[in-house]
Amino acid sequence: MNSGVPNWVTASDVLRQVYAVIQSEMEEVEQALRQELKSSCPFIDRMLRHGFQLGGKRLRPALVLLAGKAVGQVGPDHITIASAIELVHTASLIHDDVLDEAVIRRHLDTVNARWDNEASVLLGDFLLARAICLASSLDTMDASREIAQASHHMCRGELRQIATRGHYDLTEDEYLSIIAEKTASLYAACGRLGSLYSGADKEMCDRFARFGNNLGIAFQIVDDILDIWGDVGKMGKSLGTDLDKQKPTLPLIYLLQSQDDDEKAEIVATLRDGREEARSAIRRWLARSDALARAELKAQFYVRKAQEVLAPLPSSPVTAALRQMADFVCHRDQ
Ligand code: IPE
Ligand code: IPE
Ligand code: MG
Ligand code: MG
Repeated sequence: MNSGVPNWVTASDVLRQVYAVIQSEMEEVEQALRQELKSSCPFIDRMLRHGFQLGGKRLRPALVLLAGKAVGQVGPDHITIASAIELVHTASLIHDDVLDEAVIRRHLDTVNARWDNEASVLLGDFLLARAICLASSLDTMDASREIAQASHHMCRGELRQIATRGHYDLTEDEYLSIIAEKTASLYAACGRLGSLYSGADKEMCDRFARFGNNLGIAFQIVDDILDIWGDVGKMGKSLGTDLDKQKPTLPLIYLLQSQDDDEKAEIVATLRDGREEARSAIRRWLARSDALARAELKAQFYVRKAQEVLAPLPSSPVTAALRQMADFVCHRDQ
């Protein structure tokens, strides 16, 4: 399929179906991104081309377009918004890879691995600035305001995550509140802006923002499971960094909940140990517990919540694609 989305992404049957209803618009987003990601400075140009050589799954631009199409017409503003949001997301990944000391992203070496942290910080800032330029080129302020707010929440979530590093007594509610900020806020912005720029009223925009929020929470729970259990070849990014960075993710929260005090103390000591053997021991504990299954159920719960939000809408190929996107988030291995 030629949706403009990289072939390795559309290797997923489900995503191929999801993108089929927005194929030409996705191509326009790719073109807009290619246009944005050029520089007359050869050093910057090399980094930009590296970052966008393979691209990501493009779930966020797809959500902008699908939310727009679900309620009306999709036009040039949607392409601009979808591109700006993908730039914010990519910037956040480049910065996140510095924080996590990751070496693989989107099947290539990370910017910090190929160049260094200094180049990564500035390239991330560069993409954020380009995103602001794009959003502020629109006639109305709504997209700028919403994207700025989502970016603020994303950074706050990432900072709160740093603050809870090694806090293995983090509650499930605190974890959910952090991932809602760091990940779901941008998905919520996609849903809200996609529908808003197709002329939806406030009730409908709130509905699509809720869809994005629930989808984003499920997405991050699954991401946290895959960080422990995923396949680097399929995911195309460094895994295991949550354990390395002592992030108390949902599988670990559930694992600790299921143990008595002595076992809990032993697991926490192993989590703090940090060596490769310690990480293998944590995986063995997880394999013997129901923690991963419980985390998967939680992700499914949020996917269902997202799908329920769409229930009052008349069914159409676009709403079917949104439902499928939610299913993909839950069952993905990439
Ligand atoms: C990865 O997001 C970052 C998280 C929020 C977990 P994606 O998995 O959507 O990244 P790409 O864009 O497909 O590379
Ligand atoms: C970071 O979460 C999500 C962002 C908002 C940048 P992760 O650290 O889990 O993302 P990956 O796994 O590196 O993609
Ligand atoms: Mg990371
Ligand atoms: Mg992750």
